[in-house]
Amino acid sequence: MMADVSQCRVGICGLGTVASATYNLLTRYAPLIQSRTGTDVTVVHVGCRRDHPDCDLSNVRVSRDIFDVVRDPEVDVVLELIGGTDPALALVREALATGKHVVTANKALIAEFGAELFDLADTNNVSIRYEAAVAGGIPVIKAIREGLVGNEISRVAGIINGTTNFILSEMEGVGNRGFDEVLAEAQELGYAEADPTFDVEGIDAAHKLTILSTIAFGVPLEFEAIYTEGISQVTVADIRFAEQLGYKIKHLGITARDGEGVELRVHPTLVPNSALLAQVSGVMNAVMVTSNAAGETMYYGAGAGGDATGSAVVSDVVDIARDHLGIPSAGYGASDMTTLPIKLIEDIESPFYLRLTARDKPGVMASLTSILSRYNISIESLVQRDANADEVPVVIITNRVRESAMNAALAEISEQSSVTGGITRIRVL
Ligand code: HSE
Repeated sequence: MMADVSQCRVGICGLGTVASATYNLLTRYAPLIQSRTGTDVTVVHVGCRRDHPDCDLSNVRVSRDIFDVVRDPEVDVVLELIGGTDPALALVREALATGKHVVTANKALIAEFGAELFDLADTNNVSIRYEAAVAGGIPVIKAIREGLVGNEISRVAGIINGTTNFILSEMEGVGNRGFDEVLAEAQELGYAEADPTFDVEGIDAAHKLTILSTIAFGVPLEFEAIYTEGISQVTVADIRFAEQLGYKIKHLGITARDGEGVELRVHPTLVPNSALLAQVSGVMNAVMVTSNAAGETMYYGAGAGGDATGSAVVSDVVDIARDHLGIPSAGYGASDMTTLPIKLIEDIESPFYLRLTARDKPGVMASLTSILSRYNISIESLVQRDANADEVPVVIITNRVRESAMNAALAEISEQSSVTGGITRIRVL
């Protein structure tokens, strides 16, 4: 436990982009933080392989072994800002087990090992906080866990990966640039990782959505249960067709709850132009929460970057120092977690955007629509491009339909000799 609630001694593990920004915020704004919160927050120990050119470490203990920070009896709160799970997991386990509070920006760590770490924190009567793990500088965990505490939440839908949003926004812009070209630009600008799989295949967003679902609905952290699709299959043609029909294509994380279960899915989604989420472009993040009392609220801001993410880390440190809420790490106590099942993607309903290529001959549309109607799927909009060719693209937006019915209808449609090539399907918000 902390020696003195009015004093909080911080140890920082790592000194990369987020850690160096956090160090500078904590040291530069210590007087401001104290005047706002009554808490004297001091960085006493930094563990890093090498110094950082932006940080003056002359008044702080520096170790090259990050475990020295955890083992320092003067450290009350350990900031785990190294990322990855090895050795972050061992570091956080040791910190909690030895009675130190932990603040982390590590979404993979919380999404995959959070349940164990929350238990460990509870057993040792300490806190673990992770605001910075979801949507960087946007205080969305605080907003849901505290600001909306008097609400029943029905849905959380967000753009929670800046790299994919940047790529889709650029593809949407002038020039008809495709996925590969824009991804290369994102890498050059330093948005996408050198190995961009985590971003573009939706794993980063899935980690963040796992955490949001727990905070919003008390779903035990279940990273493996998420349905995940990335954006590598989205084409400029799909973006243009969607535009004609009044939509933008966004990569969304969606979690929703009804009496039957919990939806947990990450995939490209058609979002109506009128929706606020459609206006979020570039690397920015936004999370839309639908709840019964507050209605729809949206949280927008920078989802990455040292200062923005550091801002969230500082807020967690101050919360721990004040410990004024005493809320459980997962937002719900262990015995209050929901037992509702995570729905299979086949059981989830949504409208669909379909794009296929068909031979331009009489009866083709009739056979398509008859297959759809047999599965009770009606058509909301349809675009058929007369390309003056033997084959024409057909784009359809359907009504709300169960994924299993759509799968069955598409299996039949793809067997039609008039349908050539694959069928693109994107869910609509
Ligand atoms: N790679 C992440 C993104 C950074 O693009 O949003 C922060 O998690």
